[in-house]
Amino acid sequence: MAKTKTVYVCTECGQDSPKWIGRCPGCGQWNTMKELTVAPSKASDSITQSLHVLTGMERHAPKPVLLSTVKAEKEPRYLTSDAELDRVLGGGLVPGSLTLLGGEPGIGKSTLLLQTALRMQGRKLLYVSGEESERQIKLRADRIALHANDLLLLCETRLEQVFAHIKNTCPDVVIIDSIQTMALESVDASPGAVTQIRECAAMLLKFAKESGVPVILVGHITKEGTIAGPKVLEHIVDTVLQFEGDRHNMYRILRSIKNRFGSTAELGIYEMRGDGLHPVDNPSELLLTQGGAQLSGIAIAAAIEGIRPFLIETQALVSTAAYGTPQRSATGFDLRRLNMLLAVLEKRVGFKLAQKDVFLNIAGGLRVTDPAIDLSVIAAILSSNVDTAIEHNICMAGEVGLSGEIRPVSRIGQRISEAAKLGFSSILIPEGNLKGLEIKNASIEIIPVNRVEAALRSLFG
Ligand code: TYD
Ligand code: MG
Repeated sequence: MAKTKTVYVCTECGQDSPKWIGRCPGCGQWNTMKELTVAPSKASDSITQSLHVLTGMERHAPKPVLLSTVKAEKEPRYLTSDAELDRVLGGGLVPGSLTLLGGEPGIGKSTLLLQTALRMQGRKLLYVSGEESERQIKLRADRIALHANDLLLLCETRLEQVFAHIKNTCPDVVIIDSIQTMALESVDASPGAVTQIRECAAMLLKFAKESGVPVILVGHITKEGTIAGPKVLEHIVDTVLQFEGDRHNMYRILRSIKNRFGSTAELGIYEMRGDGLHPVDNPSELLLTQGGAQLSGIAIAAAIEGIRPFLIETQALVSTAAYGTPQRSATGFDLRRLNMLLAVLEKRVGFKLAQKDVFLNIAGGLRVTDPAIDLSVIAAILSSNVDTAIEHNICMAGEVGLSGEIRPVSRIGQRISEAAKLGFSSILIPEGNLKGLEIKNASIEIIPVNRVEAALRSLFG
């Protein structure tokens, strides 16, 4: 019989070590190594064995095969009834795949999966919830005003039981909400512990691969923004989707961080309403403040997130610091990047901002990582500083370098056409992007700029 042994596993990243150490060599966190008792080979062997016992699937041992004899027809994908979700998945759910949907609590993961499950036609779905009762789920379904077709509901946290029900009901798709609440009785750890998550996910992966049934897992996110539990969870699954947005705001973004079956550049945008999540087809129109008086401190950026262009409002407020140390705060934008842009403005353009509080906000509660938004950040800050509004029909795109130069950005054509489509009369673009640019939209004036000073001159005269 294999001897039990003690290992130390990092609760943040899953790295293990035979001895206790203060700092995890994997993720560099302090004091995260926790003691675990494991019976190594025996435990994992019994798990695979129990999978076959539990689900009644046949065991087959893989053998080496000639690659040239492997048939690879384009696998039919399961369409999920949600066009945005299908697109982010790379064209639907792949049979036998394991997908992880991560997101902060309350962002709408359960809502998204429940409404997708309820709308999916012609497939038998099993929705396993370890977090809510049947009544709670029913109330949510009533709220999104959809009535169950063939959706089977199971409120269970013991994975062995889940597999027993899978055996009896033979579902086409399995949804597990959430992986942190599931536990295997054969593993000696509480739900949510690293070993428990790892073993449960491994067993679900094995089930998905052998039965061809796609499995979707919900995963919680820690306050640091990583999926709670071991990093290995992300390695195990085929696809990692992240649901993000500001909980107090209505927009949500669904991104794919890892996708073995498609691109990770796709992005889905939803709006959370009283009756569930609704896809947003033209985000730009919603993200821009319609009409109203022209205010200072607002600049419109032609940004691209994923592969979609949209126009987004950057808002800045600059005021004299009330206390000795000025405050800098950014919502939806990297604070370090804001500090860098402020330094560029001080040093290269000569604006004195050292004694000013600077607040920056990206409208709509979105988080933008596209560097092309830099130019509008700078423009919004200066507009607020000199209290002069920027013409409402001008937008801009450009990355700002440390010496105050404006660097070319990707896919400028798409940005220009999106701006033209929304009726902007001019757009500031980096001079470096002019080369090879075919101007198809005569309706929009293109203003090439090469330095921050030039950009500000054309905005504020
Ligand atoms: P939920 O799906 O439970 O989030 P998660 O599973 O990610 O923790 O969503 C919870 C929030 O969504 C809750 O604050 C209420 C809100 N909500 C709506 O605004 N409209 C709706 O139709 C539903 C079902 C929820
Ligand atoms: Mg939930």
